[in-house]
Amino acid sequence: MTITTCVFDAYGTLFDVAAAARDAAAEPENAVLAEFWPKLAEDWRRKQLEYSWLRAITGAHADFRQVTGEGLDWAMEAAGLSDPRLRERLMTLYDTLGAYEEVPGMLAELKRRGLATAILSNGAPGMLASAVASAGLGDSLDAVLSVESCGVFKPAAAVYDLVGARFGCAPEAVLFVSSNGWDAAAAAGYGFVTAWVNRAGLPMDRLPWRPAHVLGDLTGIPELATR
Ligand code: LAC
Repeated sequence: MTITTCVFDAYGTLFDVAAAARDAAAEPENAVLAEFWPKLAEDWRRKQLEYSWLRAITGAHADFRQVTGEGLDWAMEAAGLSDPRLRERLMTLYDTLGAYEEVPGMLAELKRRGLATAILSNGAPGMLASAVASAGLGDSLDAVLSVESCGVFKPAAAVYDLVGARFGCAPEAVLFVSSNGWDAAAAAGYGFVTAWVNRAGLPMDRLPWRPAHVLGDLTGIPELATR
């Protein structure tokens, strides 16, 4: 079936989630982060995702800004940090994460080729709006879909349902792109054509479903969507 709609995960796929800790570490007042910002960024992301899954499984939903803050609190305590100013700075930087460098050109090319484009993310609408605006991506996206409209996190099927509800397309007409192996796998199980963007060269997740495509970055997406 022809692909009509290209849908992207946000955090880690379009936006570089390590950038908040990395950029904070480069500021003179945050010299304390210089050595171990990579571990802080990794713990923060891991806990943020674990908490999202646990909240989805137990029905204890809270929005992704809260979950992101709770993941950061765990990561800061694990690193022996308890500075409220630093916490606030990291959360502010998370709202304005940069996009990977190939993202604006790739999205513009998808629009040039006539595809519908969207973000489908755990992010709360305010967080997503701010990241999209600061990366200047608004003109290349037809929709920014947040899980807040169904009140559960990925990989619940109700989240993937938001795409068909918005665009009226069949799952097989959707190319779903995520850097999260678990998200790409679950979206494949849902019925989307999926591409896993494996920037870090990680092993394939051992789940019942596999992404149809594996790419090193996003530059090949327009070609993949229209071939
Ligand atoms: C998102 C997270 C999972 O944007 O990266 O949905």
